[in-house]
Amino acid sequence: MIEGADGLDGVVAARTVLSEVDGEAGRLLIRGRTLDDLAGSWPFEAVAGLLWGGFFPDLPERLDQPLGMARQAVFAQVAADPDLAKRPPVEAVRALMARLPDGDDLSLALRLTAAPAVFTSAVIRLQAGAHPVAPDPALSHAADVLRMARGAAAEPAEIAALDAYLVTVADHGLNASTFAARVVASTQAGLTSAVLAGLSALKGPLHGGAPGPVIDMLDAIGAPDLARPWLERALDRGDRLMGFGHRIYRVRDPRADALKRAVGDLAGRSGSSSGRLALAEAVEAAALAVLGERKPGRSLQTNVELYTALLLEALGFPPEAFTCVFAMGRVAGWIAHAREQSAGGRLLRPQSRYVGPRPLEPA
Ligand code: ACO
Repeated sequence: MIEGADGLDGVVAARTVLSEVDGEAGRLLIRGRTLDDLAGSWPFEAVAGLLWGGFFPDLPERLDQPLGMARQAVFAQVAADPDLAKRPPVEAVRALMARLPDGDDLSLALRLTAAPAVFTSAVIRLQAGAHPVAPDPALSHAADVLRMARGAAAEPAEIAALDAYLVTVADHGLNASTFAARVVASTQAGLTSAVLAGLSALKGPLHGGAPGPVIDMLDAIGAPDLARPWLERALDRGDRLMGFGHRIYRVRDPRADALKRAVGDLAGRSGSSSGRLALAEAVEAAALAVLGERKPGRSLQTNVELYTALLLEALGFPPEAFTCVFAMGRVAGWIAHAREQSAGGRLLRPQSRYVGPRPLEPA
């Protein structure tokens, strides 16, 4: 038996044509293209099409129109449950998504991709005491998400920023949620089951649940010159600093730069959030310095979640819904990985080493 570390560090559990995370160079490749090529230039629909190429026999050249129609189709599920307003958004969205049937076809893949966008927007509005807004299939996915969440059309700069975010998080190697989705897909359970597994893994604070707590941290710090003492106290308590550290990256997460650019563009064009950006930059510099001193051998760097928090806050999403917005992008990757796994991969079934008690041998 080959034994890996408890967290499966360094274990290669799948072969994929989808994405490569180079933790030493700080580079993310998605189907042969760098993140820099894609984020800010490609709309989310095009990146979903790029990821899904070869995994659906009837994949059309453009996904804009079918994804718009899928948003309309899933909206019918929303009105059905008044309790949605009382649950944490990620649980409400997961409950709505669980109503979709299982299957493996393109039409379901489109509905599963539409679902976090439509359901998150509806849940945000229900929790604010407003009525859900029906999708407009003629809009781009990012434009429609902002419109459905706010009840009014968004500015082009905001739409561009959300598109850049969705593309930045669409796929990222064998991260915990993608691995969870692939394990389920390897049993041939179907796409809905695989996507729900991905969403459930994403929700934890060590993965996609971190950006909400990043906002709490920025609020608690309050001013740039208070960052260092606040962070030192947090580490003295044994807390982890949200938005820092990564299993694979030993250098800065390239997604942090893509998102920082998007936040800067948004602040420049709309005149909003530049004070918040300055605070985040001060917190980042102080955190990197303190982490370098406290964990000298570890190279803990900024991850995607610090600037995710800033961007989603600037776009007006409530922090408790940030994980759901992450899922709006990552769902495209989960679906591609699930299809790749179920088409060519074997059942994922590792072993454990038993370290518990054994029956006593007769004397
Ligand atoms: N703050 C303080 N210390 C940290 C942090 C952090 N953010 N991250 C790691 N460390 C420390 C650990 O305490 C540990 O110290 P020790 O060796 O003295 O015990 C050491 O660094 C190694 O930690 P591991 O747990 O082995 O690192 P792992 O690879 O499992 O962790 C993780 C990766 C979970 C992302 C971690 O860095 C973390 O908890 N970060 C904060 C949460 C966060 O930002 N999550 C989002 C990640 S990005 C994403 O999933 C989309």
